[in-house]
Amino acid sequence: MGGLYDSRDEMKRLYIFCMLLLLVSACSGEGERKPGAKLSGKTVFFNRTMGGCDVCHRISEKKFVGPGLAGISQRASRNWLKKWLKDPQKVWKENEPETAAMKKRIGEESKSKPGMRLIRPLRDEEIDALVEYLSTL
Ligand code: HEC
Repeated sequence: MGGLYDSRDEMKRLYIFCMLLLLVSACSGEGERKPGAKLSGKTVFFNRTMGGCDVCHRISEKKFVGPGLAGISQRASRNWLKKWLKDPQKVWKENEPETAAMKKRIGEESKSKPGMRLIRPLRDEEIDALVEYLSTL
């Protein structure tokens, strides 16, 4: 006993710590692409480290946690989608006509906050890809 804090243990701990750091950084790089490759909105939509939109939305008429997104391109402008995906809280509060119409359609005019929560803030590039994908629906 007594050797518990000797330098070899210290090295071992440092080594383990470094390996963990490496692992974490490798994992957070998931979903990165080679430079120049175009980001697919569908990937962002379904990838749980990216948009993870399928946690709450189905690409059908069916409501899940949020509205089914079939035909969303007919209901929402690209411009509105872009703002919505950037910051749903803010858009909900600002309550522009397009937002008010959406609230009315889903029967939530009286709610002070949106039910939509992004799993993480989206990068502009991810938002653009998503808007592109949504406009095909
Ligand atoms: C935690 C659940 C949740 C997640 C995750 C989520 N949404 Fe939503 N979304 C909702 C809810 C609930 C609504 C209805 C409005 C509200 O209450 O916020 C909504 C509304 C929408 C609308 C408007 C629908 C309509 O009929 O006008 C779009 C478009 C949308 N979400 C797209 C997305 C995209 C794209 C993602 C992924 C980046 C996403 N959502 C992630 C819950 C979610």
